[in-house]
Amino acid sequence: MEKRTDSPYPRRDLPVLTAIGILLVISTIVFAVSDHRKDWRYYQAEFKRMVTEKYGAEKATLVPSGMKQIWVADMRRADRCITCHQGVLWKGFETADHPYKTHPVDPIRTHPIEKFGCTACHGGQGYAVQSEEAHGPVRFWEEPVLGKSMGESYSLASDDKGALLQMNCNVCHRFDRETKGADLINHAKKLVRDKGCRACHVVNSRGGTIGPDLTFVGDKAAEQYDMSRLGGQKTAFAWHVTHFKNPKEVVPDTVMPNFGFGTKDAQALAALMLSWRRAPVPVDYRPGVARTDPQTPEEVAEEQKMKTGPGAWFVKTGCFICHSVSALGVKSAAQIGPDLSTAVEDTQSRFGKTVDDFIKNPTGTMSVVLARQIVLTDQEKDVAIQKLREAYAEHQKQKASNTAVASSH
Ligand code: HEC
Ligand code: HEC
Ligand code: HEC
Ligand code: HEC
Ligand code: HEC
Repeated sequence: MEKRTDSPYPRRDLPVLTAIGILLVISTIVFAVSDHRKDWRYYQAEFKRMVTEKYGAEKATLVPSGMKQIWVADMRRADRCITCHQGVLWKGFETADHPYKTHPVDPIRTHPIEKFGCTACHGGQGYAVQSEEAHGPVRFWEEPVLGKSMGESYSLASDDKGALLQMNCNVCHRFDRETKGADLINHAKKLVRDKGCRACHVVNSRGGTIGPDLTFVGDKAAEQYDMSRLGGQKTAFAWHVTHFKNPKEVVPDTVMPNFGFGTKDAQALAALMLSWRRAPVPVDYRPGVARTDPQTPEEVAEEQKMKTGPGAWFVKTGCFICHSVSALGVKSAAQIGPDLSTAVEDTQSRFGKTVDDFIKNPTGTMSVVLARQIVLTDQEKDVAIQKLREAYAEHQKQKASNTAVASSH
């Protein structure tokens, strides 16, 4: 066996080894110090020093030390965030850095921290006392703190980078039409009303069945989405944003319309969708008088009026959820499909079919509507065709009299 040679540089070995040794010692110290700086004991000592400096040593004795938690029995949450975030209820640290900063007053005036803790609003892992674990995202913890860093990593287009927090607000406030302090969610709720999403989706037990029930869509795990067509981040949030901008991009055969949403609208809607979770809180933690989401009296009155007019059939049958029939005074709030006053003419140019053929052998959205949401017998289909002809006749009559009026001037 060949004998291993001695080092060719015997005299240089020692200094090199010594240098490496010293480096190791230094880096260990640096790591220990930086680790200590992340420790809750460090933050507590620092906060005590800040209070002493500002209000004197006597006041500083009021700063608690040791592990602290808020135990919210009703929600079975033990939030230890205040172990580090000691300045929450103190005045005078409004401009301090985290975790020493005074909390904005409004939210915790209406939601006292003894009753609400921290994580119901912020997310995060209440039990943890290490910064990374407390704020998430970490393995086995699905609810990271929804703060500014999260907003930035999701490229939130809103001016308020911390707005994702509002998803948690809406877990409790889902039945509010509007919630003060949750503008992103308010905007999305308005879009859901204006665009008539309920024509196809049940939300809070009201709506159509062409698309899936969205009441608890936020409980769906990211793994349940097909992310294969997504570029960039593969999160449920990113999936929804892409889907809202163009449903066909992620679900090629969907009949969900492309509403032409821009990034801001799509992100607001994505946040709203993810907020529709089963609330892990008792009923009396959920505001909203009736805890339902009824139509407004105006909406009910409008519907009632249309039900007795000449377009009553379209209202009673439910076509008006998606279609106006302006010739018969039927106005759809959502207007997801075209005005049916001219359908007799339009099915020909749009689908190359007579209206009879279209109703009997529908394609596109109407094939889903007539198979799942409004199932008509052959007789009822004949009535539908008849009604469409009547609407068209009325439309032509109105057009003729309008032209007559115009030419008489
Ligand atoms: C170990 C100490 C520690 C604990 C425990 C802790 N934090 Fe923090 N927190 C910090 C520090 C330090 C910062 C500032 C640096 C940073 O963002 O990591 C911070 C920042 C924050 C921010 C602002 C960050 C952003 O992205 O907007 C929020 C919100 C927050 N913490 C909430 C919480 C909540 C809620 C809990 C309890 C679940 C909690 N923290 C527990 C130390 C802590
Ligand atoms: C009712 C909901 C609610 C509760 C409960 C609540 N917060 Fe907040 N918190 C807010 C809101 C709203 C803001 C302002 C966020 C913003 O302006 O972006 C905020 C801001 C903060 C910030 C500053 C974040 C930043 O980016 O400036 C920290 C840190 C924080 N809260 C920690 C806590 C801790 C710790 C608790 C528990 C003791 C707590 N919060 C309880 C709603 C709440
Ligand atoms: C754990 C459930 C819960 C969470 C999370 C929550 N709230 Fe509330 N909120 C309530 C309850 C309960 C009330 C009291 C309602 C009442 O008195 O009818 C309330 C009251 C309010 C009020 C006052 C309403 C009024 O009538 O004056 C506002 C505004 C509000 N919340 C906004 C928010 C915002 C913004 C957030 C998120 C930062 C939030 N809430 C998070 C449950 C919650
Ligand atoms: C013409 C019917 C129709 C309308 C109107 C419609 N959708 Fe959909 N939606 C669907 C169908 C069908 C699907 C299932 C296929 C898919 O994912 O695109 C769907 C899927 C969805 C999903 C994914 C659900 C899941 O389980 O992951 C969300 C979220 C959604 N729609 C939200 C909305 C919102 C918000 C609106 C209003 C802005 C809306 N939809 C309007 C038909 C519709
Ligand atoms: C959930 C929404 C929805 C409902 C409810 C609905 N439609 Fe439609 N309908 C559409 C959409 C969207 C189109 C446009 C075609 C497409 O996208 O495939 C359409 C197209 C049509 C057309 C072709 C019109 C044209 O101008 O080309 C007719 C006719 C029609 N629908 C009749 C009806 C009748 C009758 C009812 C009630 C029995 C009804 N629809 C209910 C969504 C709906």
